[in-house]
Formats: sequence, C-alpha cells, structure tokens
Amino acid sequence: GSAERKNEATNYNEVMSTLPKVKGWRGCDYYLYQGFRYDALVLKGLVSVQEHFHPQSTDIFVASSPKTGTTWLKALTFAILTRSRLSGSTTSSLLTKMPHDCVPFLEFQLGDQNPSNRDLAIPLISTHVPYSCLPKSIISSSCKIIYICRDAKDAFVSLWYFLAKLRRSENVEPLPLEEAFELFCNGIANYGPYWDHVLGYWRASLEFPEKILFLTYEEMKKDTAAHVKKLAEFMGCSFTLEKEEGGEVQKITSMCSFEELSSLEVNKNAEHRAPGISIPIQNSVFFRKGEIGDWANHLTPEMGARLDDIMEKKLKGSGLKL
Ligand code: A3P
Repeated sequence: GSAERKNEATNYNEVMSTLPKVKGWRGCDYYLYQGFRYDALVLKGLVSVQEHFHPQSTDIFVASSPKTGTTWLKALTFAILTRSRLSGSTTSSLLTKMPHDCVPFLEFQLGDQNPSNRDLAIPLISTHVPYSCLPKSIISSSCKIIYICRDAKDAFVSLWYFLAKLRRSENVEPLPLEEAFELFCNGIANYGPYWDHVLGYWRASLEFPEKILFLTYEEMKKDTAAHVKKLAEFMGCSFTLEKEEGGEVQKITSMCSFEELSSLEVNKNAEHRAPGISIPIQNSVFFRKGEIGDWANHLTPEMGARLDDIMEKKLKGSGLKL
C-alpha cells in the first residue's frame, strides 16, 4: 500500500545519503553503487527493479552501456521479433515510433511495478544496467540477453555529444571535452567504468553462451545482414530459407540502417519523453553520425592512445579485444 511505498522512499533516501558521490557530466552528481556510477534518477529506478522486477520467462533483454548502439539494436530486435505481424502489411511501428518508444527501458520505465508500461506481447526490454547489478530475478531466469558494446573512444565521443546536447537544452554549458575525457578515463561516466561494464557481460557470455549474446557495434556495421540472421537465431525466431531468399533479412537491415532510421520524420522532427530526463528530448539526438572511428575528429592522437592503453590493460587476460 501507500504506507509501504512511503517506507520505501525513506529507505531509498537513507541509502542514497550514504553513497559516495562525485560531480557528474550533466550537472548532477553520480552516485557510486555496487561498483558503478549512476545519476540519482537512474539509481532510484535501479534499486526499485532490483527489488521488484520479475521478467516473463520469454523476455529478451537488450543490454548496453550508453551510446554504444542501443537504439540500433532495439530497432533490429524489434523488427526481427515483430516481422511476422508485418507480413501482408508494409508498416512497422518503427516507421512511426522512435525505437526507444518501441522497447521500454528496464530501470527507467519498469521500476514501479507498473506493467502498463510495457506491452507483454512484445517480450523485449532494454537496459543499461551492468551485468552484476541486474535484478537477481533476471540472472536466475532463462531469459536471453543480447549485449552490444563499442570502441571506447567512439563511445566516449558519442556520450559527450549526447550529454552536451542535453545540457544545452537545459541551459547548462557543456562540460569541456577534456574534462569529460579525464573523468571517463577514471571510470566516471553514466554506468561507468566503461571497461567493467563490458567485462561483466563478456565474462557472463563466456560462462553462459546460450543465454548471453555478445556483439560489437563494429562487427554489426561490417556485416549487418549476417547479424540480423544471428540475432533471429539467438532469439529463437530464425528466418526460413524461403523468407531469406524473399529478401526479408535485407528488408530489416535496410529499415534499421542509420540512413533510413535517421531520415524518418519521427526521428528527425519529433521528441519523446526520454527515460531519466525531466524534459522532452529531440529524437534526432539519438542519431548523430553512426560511424566507426569518428573519435579521431574530436580527440587528439594522444588522447586516443591513452584510452586505448587503459582499455588494453583493463581487458588484458579476458580474451576480449575491443
Ligand atoms: P554516434 O554518436 O557515434 O553517431 P545509443 O543508441 O546507445 O544511444 O548510441 C548512439 C550511437 O549509435 C550514436 O553514435 C548514433 O548515431 C548511433 N546510431 C543510432 N542509430 C544507428 C543505426 N541505425 N545504425 C548505426 N548507428 C546508429
């Protein structure tokens, strides 16, 4: 009841007040909770899903660190999963709704035991929560998880642009790039340290390969069609040879490409209520360049080498090279 809710809020505020915090990129603090950094709003949602959330056994999770290809992966998995409903019709929800409005975010939208926030018929949920912090109900379930990550330098530049845009729309000056870079290299970023985020899912994918599919933005870019097939197979809805030959894989690949998605009216000129952000946000903010290696236009070679060096040291011995 509401008394219980009130209690929970008090507990939550008590917990928050004991957590170490540092100044974040967007003007608000980052809290250190179970080894990772979170904004207050995200943390509140996370604590709540850790306590209350229970997946359906058929749910599939799309996991990522921010700015590593979440929007793209949401679009692809959504298109793959709902394709049978499309046969006969040419319109997908993806043409009229931005991908974040097609697939809900666990920690932002499903934190308050509110099943009305999701369409149970579409068993897809996305999350930025690191593997070790996922609700136990997910870890112990048979639910599948698809993780995407990306070169750290590109992820950093993408995050800096994204947060700078958000700050501008809130009339706050962007954090200087060099300052943000310093923080990122010290593990201080939304859901950071980045390397620990990647390593958590990487190790889990080695341990439970049938449960966790580990992907990189770079390999998806290189051969998207092959990954569309791989995703479908992993999600338990492979393409039949007939459909494949009929061009269905290619159709989904094109529909979800950066060029096509970013030029849709809904993604160009509309806005949506972004998770964890109090003001509406332009959908176009989620489509910047969509390229590999754009970091080189924003970071000096020395900065690039420094972050490469950090990543190499952190990933050493894991078998992963990013
Ligand atoms: P850039 O800022 O490098 O352009 P996320 O979706 O996790 O927030 O990540 C955003 C990044 O993915 C941005 O990278 C964005 O441009 C890119 N992106 C968005 N849609 C994409 C698509 N359909 N294909 C490839 N990249 C895409």
